[in-house]
Parts: sequence; C-alpha cells; structure tokens
Amino acid sequence: MELQGKTAVITGGASGIGLATARQFARSGVNLVLGDIEEAPLKLAVEGLRADGANVIGVKTDVSVEQDVVAMRDAALQEFGAAHIIFNNAGVGVGPTIGTPKKVWDWVMAVNVDGVINGINAFVPMFLEQNEGHVINTGSLAGLGGVPGMGAYCASKFAVVGISECLFHEFALSGKNVGVSALCPGFVRTRINESYRNMPKELLDDYVTPSEQAAADMGANAVANGIEVAEVATAVEHAVRTNSFWILTHQRSAVRTTELRAAWMQGGPPPRINLEKATKS
Ligand SMILES: NC(=O)c1ccc[n+]([C@@H]2O[C@H](COP(=O)([O-])OP(=O)(O)OC[C@H]3O[C@@H](n4cnc5c(N)ncnc54)[C@H](O)[C@@H]3O)[C@@H](O)[C@H]2O)c1
Repeated sequence: MELQGKTAVITGGASGIGLATARQFARSGVNLVLGDIEEAPLKLAVEGLRADGANVIGVKTDVSVEQDVVAMRDAALQEFGAAHIIFNNAGVGVGPTIGTPKKVWDWVMAVNVDGVINGINAFVPMFLEQNEGHVINTGSLAGLGGVPGMGAYCASKFAVVGISECLFHEFALSGKNVGVSALCPGFVRTRINESYRNMPKELLDDYVTPSEQAAADMGANAVANGIEVAEVATAVEHAVRTNSFWILTHQRSAVRTTELRAAWMQGGPPPRINLEKATKS
C-alpha cells in the first residue's frame, strides 16, 4: 500500500508500540486516529503528534466494547472521509495460568481478543467494499509458544495469531486488495508490564499485590531489556507497504520457538523457556 494521504486507526495508540507506529506513519503522511482507554496519555500523544505536523485525532475507546470501536471508526470517517488501516494493537499482559481469578482471565481475553474481533468487524466489511485496506493484529511470541507465568496472555495471543491466519486465508479467497499482518514481537521496552494500571477497580481489589504480580507476570526485566518501540514501528510500516503477513521483530526467537514445538510434537524434548533469549533477536 502507498501510504501518503491514507488514514490509519491505531488502538492502544497513546503509548508504547501504538504511539511509535503513529509517529512512523505520520512521517509517511498518514492521517491518524488514535484510540485508547487512557485519556491523559491519549491527549498528550495527540498534542505531541500535532506539534510535529500530523493530522491526528484521539478517541477515548475501550476496545473490548463493540460500540466504542464502532464510534472510533465513525470518528475516523467523519474526520478524514475514509479509513485504510486498522492496527488492533491495544493489549494487556497479566495472569499466570495457576491462581489467576476467572474474571481476570475474562478481562485479558476481552481486551486482547474481543478488541481484535471488534476491530475486524468494524473495519473489514468497509475495506472489502472499497477494495483497499490493511489489518494489523498485535499478537506476540507468546502467541507462538507457551510461556510459564503467562497463561491468560498466551491464550489471548494464540487466539490473535489464529484469527489473523484465518483472516489471511479469507482475504486470499475473496480476491480483494485487502491484507492482514500478525505482529508477533518478543520483548519491547514499553509499559506492558504495568498493564494492571488499566484493570477495572473491582478486579484490582481481588488481585493480590498487583504491582509485584504484574511485574512477575510479564517479566519486567525482560521488557526493560527489550528492543526499542521505533524498531517495531519500522517493521509494521514495512509490512503494510509490502503486504507481508508475519511481522517478526525477533525472527530468530520466533522461528526457534516454532521449530522446538514441532520437534516436541514429534517426540522430541519439551522446549526450555528462557525469557532473556526473547529480548533482542
Ligand atoms: N512490550 C512487549 O514486550 C510486547 C511484546 C509482545 C506483544 N506486545 C503487545 O503489544 C501491544 C501494545 O502494548 P505495548 O507493549 O505498547 O504496551 P503499553 O502498555 O505501552 O501500551 C498498551 C496500550 O493499550 C492501551 N489499552 C489497554 N487496555 C485498553 C483497552 N481496553 N482499550 C483501549 N486501549 C487499551 C493502554 O492504555 C496503552 O496505551 C499489546 O497488544 C501487547 O500485548 C507487547
């Protein structure tokens, strides 16, 4: 896709990978709609991008709420007349497999999976109709192999990768000029290990020592040692320009994870998980 003058809608656009991708797209002349649940960072993000000359609006959005995502799309259409890219990127990372209350699992699945489904339902029919568009769904290396301490997160990211692959095949069958990418990074320096900051209050009350738990959940050290967001943003833009499905910022780890799983399925030893190896490559 040629990007100049196109419109991209980015969920989780107020910080981390979403904001970095907004900056990257802005440099390529893309109009931007940022959707995020955090109002103050969203406002700051929009002001910062505008100061750099971007055409951008922010829409407070909870991606797990279908009407919010539809309203975000309608705001994009009203402001820019069309939308061409939906980056379903908002996500939260908490919840070991053992001991996570069901309602916390539900919250992780609602944001990470329902958020992607709501984005697909709101934008894909329009993309097919206009015969132009690109969907990017944020999965993770945790969507390619199981990781201890990340049961809820892995479940949601496996779902995102599966949905993205199905969408790829459906687009191929449609013969339309519409693409999809699955972004599956290893660790990236963002606030993902502070995801509990967006957890509904009634869940936080039940969640013992949330800061410690969340830090453990997402491997705070590994996140701190991860790659820079700008590197992810460059890879996202490249995938949209070249219509590439896999966005593997840590390709060596992604391929190794997949090879080890395949060997395990064929009677080999189970993989041994070393989070530090998923930081840089
Ligand atoms: N940082 C990593 O190491 C890493 C690795 C693999 C995948 N990811 C994925 O990247 C995506 C972006 O996360 P990040 O690393 O930039 O973290 P981040 O916490 O910096 O950004 C996530 C953004 O999503 C927003 N958000 C949370 N819940 C929301 C909701 N219900 N509705 C709308 N917005 C919501 C947050 O306010 C925040 O702005 C997530 O899907 C995450 O799972 C991150």
